[in-house]
Amino acid sequence: MRAVTAFMMLAFTRPTMVGAIWPSSCYLAQAMARGADGAQQIIELGAGTGAITEALYERHPRVPTTVVELQPEWAGRLRQRFPGMTVLQAPAHEVLEAWCGGDEPVVLVSSLPFRSLPARWRDGTSRAIERFLWAHPQRRLIQYTYQPRAPFDLQLGRGLVWRRRAVVWRNVPPAWVWELGWA
Ligand SMILES: C[S@@+](CC[C@H](N)C(=O)[O-])C[C@H]1O[C@@H](n2cnc3c(N)ncnc32)[C@H](O)[C@@H]1O
Repeated sequence: MRAVTAFMMLAFTRPTMVGAIWPSSCYLAQAMARGADGAQQIIELGAGTGAITEALYERHPRVPTTVVELQPEWAGRLRQRFPGMTVLQAPAHEVLEAWCGGDEPVVLVSSLPFRSLPARWRDGTSRAIERFLWAHPQRRLIQYTYQPRAPFDLQLGRGLVWRRRAVVWRNVPPAWVWELGWA
């Protein structure tokens, strides 16, 4: 089955976990990949069909990249398509909590649909992201939304701020690219 068809079927059956009607356009994917410029390591969260994974691979071919996707079928597809990347089929918060021991500067690039995720998933994941970013002053999160408002409300707060980086009109629907980093 084609990736777009699989995406639409999953969007229909699990709308809160997918939070989109169409995969990211190449314009959004490129804007997200530009957000990771300077990264020494990248973790992509909620990679789905791999549209942003591909842009990350093209722009940052030598940066070690770990790809996280919850859906087993899509994680399998990503493994086949990007054999040079580490693909983890796991919830994002578990990966980030396990990673927190290290203190490397890492850029998180996320498609997680925070505004539609069930509250338990949203709050657990956003807390894990905030804790992950605190562990190193050069860590940051690149995240897109389909509304001109910050992707999620900071729960722990201390020292992190949202900055709006770009608007991508050539996406369905148009998207805003955000960066969460140290103030
Ligand atoms: C908006 S879709 C991905 C869009 C992606 N940029 C694309 O073009 O295909 C969000 C993805 O996040 C995944 N997801 C949702 N919650 C997750 C979680 N807690 N951990 C990991 N992946 C998650 C969903 O399975 C889905 O693939």
